[in-house]
Amino acid sequence: MAVDPRMIHLYSYYRDAELRGATLLLKLIMRIDDSETQVKLAKHLADETRHAWLWTKRIADLGATPIRIVDGYQTRIGQQIGIPKNLVDLFALTVVVEERAQRRYCEHARRPDVDPATREILHEVTKDEKWHIGWIKNKLKEFAAANGGLDKAAATLERYRAIDQQVVADLIAKEREAFGFSFSDDPVAPEYPAPQREEHEV
Ligand SMILES: [Fe+2]
Ligand SMILES: [Fe+2]
Repeated sequence: MAVDPRMIHLYSYYRDAELRGATLLLKLIMRIDDSETQVKLAKHLADETRHAWLWTKRIADLGATPIRIVDGYQTRIGQQIGIPKNLVDLFALTVVVEERAQRRYCEHARRPDVDPATREILHEVTKDEKWHIGWIKNKLKEFAAANGGLDKAAATLERYRAIDQQVVADLIAKEREAFGFSFSDDPVAPEYPAPQREEHEV
C-alpha cells in the first residue's frame, strides 16, 4: 500500500521537534557547570536524540526519507521569543517545549486509528517526557531561587506558554487544512477542541 505523504510530513515534524529539543539541551550542557546537572542533561540529550531516531526509523520503515522542516514548532517558537539570553530562559523554554511534546504525543496516541508501530513510538517517547518535564522544572525552580529570580522565571514561563499556545493554534490550523482534522482533536468529541491544559506551577 502506498504510504500517505502527509504522514511522512507529520513524522518529519515530530523528528524535527526532537532534534531541535536536543539542540536546546546541547546549549544548556555547554553552559552548565554543576556536575549533577551535567549527568541529567547528558541522559536527557541521549533520550531526545533517540526519539529523533525512532521517528526517523518509522519514516524509513515506511520506505521514505525524512522531509526537511523549515517551519516546525520550535522554529516558530524561536522566531517569536528571540534568542534565549540566559539559563533561566533556556530552562523555561525547555519546560514549555517538553510539556507541549508530551501533550501532543498523548493527544495523538488517544486516537483509535493509530497503527501499532506508531502507537509504540508514541508510548515510548511519552514515557521519557514525564521524567524530562519533572527534572527540568525542578532545576528551573532551584536555579531561579538561588539567583533571586523566581518571579522572573514565572513571568518568562508565562510569556513562553502564551507564545506556545499561538504557535500550536497555527500548526493545528495547518494540520486541519492538510487532513481535514487535527491529531490533537478529541476523538470522542471531534467537534470540540481538546481541553486546554490545566493550571501550571512554575
Ligand atoms: Fe522527546
Ligand atoms: Fe523530552
